[in-house]
Amino acid sequence: MDTQLAIQTDVSLKSLNTFGIESVAARFLEVRGVQDLEAVYRDPFLKELPRLVLGGGSNLLLVSSRYEGIVLKMVNKGMAVERDDGQSTYIRVCAGELWHDFVMWTLRNGYPGLENMSLIPGTVGAAPVQNIGAYGVELKDCFYSLRAFDFHSGQMVELDREDCAFSYRDSIFKHEMKDRLVIIDLTFVLPKAWTPNIGYGDVASVLRAEGISDPTPEDISRAIIAIRQRKLPDPNVQGNAGSFFQNPTVSAETLAQLRESHPNIPSYPQSDGRFRIAAGWLIDQCGWKGKQLGRAGVCATQALVLVNCGGAEGGEIATLAKAIQADVKAKFGIELNPEPSFI
Ligand code: EPU
Repeated sequence: MDTQLAIQTDVSLKSLNTFGIESVAARFLEVRGVQDLEAVYRDPFLKELPRLVLGGGSNLLLVSSRYEGIVLKMVNKGMAVERDDGQSTYIRVCAGELWHDFVMWTLRNGYPGLENMSLIPGTVGAAPVQNIGAYGVELKDCFYSLRAFDFHSGQMVELDREDCAFSYRDSIFKHEMKDRLVIIDLTFVLPKAWTPNIGYGDVASVLRAEGISDPTPEDISRAIIAIRQRKLPDPNVQGNAGSFFQNPTVSAETLAQLRESHPNIPSYPQSDGRFRIAAGWLIDQCGWKGKQLGRAGVCATQALVLVNCGGAEGGEIATLAKAIQADVKAKFGIELNPEPSFI
């Protein structure tokens, strides 16, 4: 084994996942840069181990009490303007930075565009995996490219927006590149011509209540932080992974049928003619909001968020998720897909 690498053994992951679930990693490495991944690649034993790349651990459900592979915890840091073409600013940021810290840095330095994604938990490197999004903006809208280490070739590769095949909470990193690429850094392109995006949900009404008619990017960021803090539980207080299910997509025909018995069903038209339905509403309608099963619970302010009520094992959260899926299926005929990865 490469003695240069500070590999730890039997490391508790409890403080490294936002659900706060106990699980032990057989091997664990803090990745400070691509050289650490190259060293893992060169080591014939380490190279063959199953790998779990860990960012902020905010989109993860640890269902096994042990992970018999190597956890690669991304801790590489740095963010800087890479270039400016007069129209847009290109900013490069390392995978190990916290997403929210990065958003705050862009606003402080006068590069708006990411403010609607304020306070999303997790790291920058995890953000493209599920194409994070909130309040009408998705990562892909301001993404330019990323660099990743390829465990097939042992080389760095660069991917642009098209290569990443982004869609709603999805990308190539959840599919063919899942166990192959480790994201090292991202480049964002932020146009200098900024327009506010306040059409989604409560954002406009929160700003209006504050008497703001011509919001700055900072105003929008503050409003979104306030909305998120009101609705979503703080993982430092109550373990959770944000939205536990994706909002399902249905055809116009299915929506019309659902509307006959449920006229208030919240739905959002998509560019392909289909409609996205609010999973939180479906769960709420099944009576799950604020309910508990074992040590796993459903958040009382947002039914889409499952919480660790204290000392829950991953299996208890998974059992609650299954019960919710069964009820939603029985009442609405809709399948809910979990957002977090089950490990
Ligand atoms: N609703 C209910 N009951 C609930 C929860 C929601 O009736 O318990 C209704 C709301 O009243 C609203 C609709 O469902 O009409 C949608 O709710 P909300 O605006 O809170 O958004 P969401 O669709 O539940 C999505 C993202 C969130 C993101 C918000 C804002 C997904 C799976 N979730 O939630 O992302 O912050 O929109 O853009 O797409 C995350 O991914 O972790 C996350 C928090």
